Amino acid sequence: MTVVTIHIYPYVTPQCMILVTGGAGYIGSHCAIRLIEEGKDIVIFDSLELGHKETVDTLRSVSKGSKVEFVQGDLKNPSDIRSVFEKYDIDAVVHFAAYSQVAESMKDPQKYYYNNVYGTLNLLSAMKDARVGKIVFSSTAATYGEPEYVPIDEVHPQMPINPYGNSKLMVERIMDDYSRAYGLRSVRLRYFNVVGADGRIGEWHVPETHLVPNVLKSVLSPGGVFSMFGTDYDTRDGTCVRDYIDVRDLIDAHILALSYLDKGGETDYFNLGTNDGSTVREVFSECEAVVGSKIQVNECARRPGDPAVLIADNQKAKSVLGWEPKHTLKESVETAWSWEQKLN
Ligand code: UFG
Repeated sequence: MTVVTIHIYPYVTPQCMILVTGGAGYIGSHCAIRLIEEGKDIVIFDSLELGHKETVDTLRSVSKGSKVEFVQGDLKNPSDIRSVFEKYDIDAVVHFAAYSQVAESMKDPQKYYYNNVYGTLNLLSAMKDARVGKIVFSSTAATYGEPEYVPIDEVHPQMPINPYGNSKLMVERIMDDYSRAYGLRSVRLRYFNVVGADGRIGEWHVPETHLVPNVLKSVLSPGGVFSMFGTDYDTRDGTCVRDYIDVRDLIDAHILALSYLDKGGETDYFNLGTNDGSTVREVFSECEAVVGSKIQVNECARRPGDPAVLIADNQKAKSVLGWEPKHTLKESVETAWSWEQKLN
């Protein structure tokens, strides 16, 4: 009689992880915290050049058992990102890591092409070789350039007017080709103006260039005066109009995009905005209302490269992803204000 011994190994389904590049930065960390709260295992990949170690610590403290791994690395070093795919079982990538300052990109375009384009190529190449086939990418309204019409829909011509916008558009095009040739599917999310905070984490740029944190910082710094750039635009009150989208709503779209790709959704791109615009003066007034006092303002010349009006047509994200932004500008400013006081 032949005795056959059957070894029954405990079978544990390995839970695949989601890689969040730039997860120690403003928007990336808001995505990371949401994924952690949904019980997902994640790997945060960040060089900490612009992101913050303290943010990673906060993210880790939120976890109730799910894995939060942190890898300090630079996408410009192929081996840094390749080793992530060797070490972890990655199912999908949410790619935030990038430089994003328009003015800086005008002064030093190479920095932007090298980091945002070459760095992303290294990521895509590592994904391709590891057979990871899903990516959600932070693109931008800056890929449209000077608008020919507003609200801007996704078929609006993409003619960036600065290297930052060019670098993001190049990545969009590269992703189209990777999708066609290798089946690496992507959702490109074109952000308009992102504002607000979760509260435990928030917007923390050094230096800060964005409107809402700059208004709020001027309140907190002794003798601080907010500089308002350009009051002679052809708009309802002379200041630029932007479409302000709450970071928590923005992250909802990323979660929906991941599930869209999980369900086999095709490579696509979506605007993320509210379909509505506010002027700089209106945002400033909202900040005064939230802070509860008058804020000192200095009306300055226009900032070079600022288009007068940028408003998103968000119908496509609503109908295809089922996305619905919920937060008002007031709520965004309130959360930004409580975060800013914590940061100060
Ligand atoms: N502004 C001020 N004072 C400040 C900061 C900003 O008056 O201290 C004004 C700007 O001139 C502009 C508006 O506030 O009219 C919004 O400026 P932000 O810097 O907050 O945002 P941008 O619209 O310039 O930039 C955003 C994204 C970029 C993206 C760009 C697309 O942050 O990443 O939209 O055009 F490239």
